[in-house]
Amino acid sequence: MENKTKADLLLLHAGQLVTVAGDSAGPKRGAEMAQLGVIQDGAVAVKEGTIVYVGTTREVLEQVETHPGTRVVDAGGKVVLPGLVDPHTHLVFAGSREHELELKLQGMGYLDILKAGGGILSTVRATRAAGKAELIKTAGKYLDQMLSQGTTTAEVKSGYGLTLEDEVKTLEVIRELNRSHPIDLVPTFLGAHAVPEEYKGNPEGYVDLVVEAMLPAVVREGLAEFCDVFCEEGVFSVEQSRRILLAAKERGLKPKIHADEIVSLGGGELAAEVGAVSADHLMAVSDQGIEQMAQQGTIAVLLPATTFCLMGKQYAPARKMIERGVPVALASDFNPGSSPVNSLQVVMGIACRQLKMTPAEVITAVTINAAHAIGRAAEVGSIEAGKKADLVVFDALTYRYLPYRFGTNLVEMVIKNGQVVVE
Ligand code: NIG
Ligand code: FE
Repeated sequence: MENKTKADLLLLHAGQLVTVAGDSAGPKRGAEMAQLGVIQDGAVAVKEGTIVYVGTTREVLEQVETHPGTRVVDAGGKVVLPGLVDPHTHLVFAGSREHELELKLQGMGYLDILKAGGGILSTVRATRAAGKAELIKTAGKYLDQMLSQGTTTAEVKSGYGLTLEDEVKTLEVIRELNRSHPIDLVPTFLGAHAVPEEYKGNPEGYVDLVVEAMLPAVVREGLAEFCDVFCEEGVFSVEQSRRILLAAKERGLKPKIHADEIVSLGGGELAAEVGAVSADHLMAVSDQGIEQMAQQGTIAVLLPATTFCLMGKQYAPARKMIERGVPVALASDFNPGSSPVNSLQVVMGIACRQLKMTPAEVITAVTINAAHAIGRAAEVGSIEAGKKADLVVFDALTYRYLPYRFGTNLVEMVIKNGQVVVE
């Protein structure tokens, strides 16, 4: 009796408890991506925000001791997943860009809009003009929407400031939201998101500013963990991206890349070369890039809601990447331009239909592989003893129902750090 684990929260009777647990310490690759570790009539015991026991309801009731204050949640035979992890968002921005939808319908391309001073640059103008309080308020609202849709951990990039002051302001907003909001945030410095108007015609001058002024300040203040670059034709070249990412790495930030989104520039190859944790987008990745990423274990973070919103014809070659052994994660890319989507449930639905990933693979891609893509796999991304008690109950009887149903929020309950935060 005395040796029994004491719990302050029990979640019982999950029809399918999708643990996503596995043997390997790294992200899941190839056939492993379809192994979900489902426990029928599963249960989880939680103590002080941490998972202490996982098994069938019967095992948990046998092994775990309760006390009068223990909260017992009955999942009623429904599906339970680890809290979802969104490993690529641009959450902090002012304004919106709904007018661009009509421009796109008239045939104007994403990069044409940017070249004409719109796109990212119009959000930069609005974000520079906004104070911290306003940015915290709007980003906080987006985070509430994400939490209610099952996201419990998210990466957030700067990149709509593009001056030292405004990039620091954005990263401080992220730090503040990480303290005040239940969703755990992982900050990424994306000073190289676009060449700002005042550096038009002088991209090298702006790269100097990023490397010589912004990076040192961001690192000094401990404001970011990752450094990202938008490596794209007409934005930052492979050479400029390499320079920024190597400088960031030298200062202790982990590299990430917006790679081969529209034009095949060799972003996947660069990601492998600099030891990036992930290469993101990859709609136009080359076979060589896929090969090098597989060798290096670079995670492919795919963003099919972006391809959908850009009305792109070419989705990232997810099947080829999975077959070649590249670990694949999925993210929303939530931003005011190319993806006003912040629901990972919607992303899962698109990923099955357009990336031809199976329901099991997409669940792996928004949980454990997403956690690996932002350096959080030791804490979140699967339902295992020792990890944070981040759990989502869905109004579904099988996990296959999640990507099958589309556009309706199926979340019934969200538990974050052992606390019921959405009910
Ligand atoms: O990941 N491609 C670059 N950056 C974002 C879009 C940002 C924007 O359009 O505001 C992306 O798609
Ligand atoms: Fe992005």
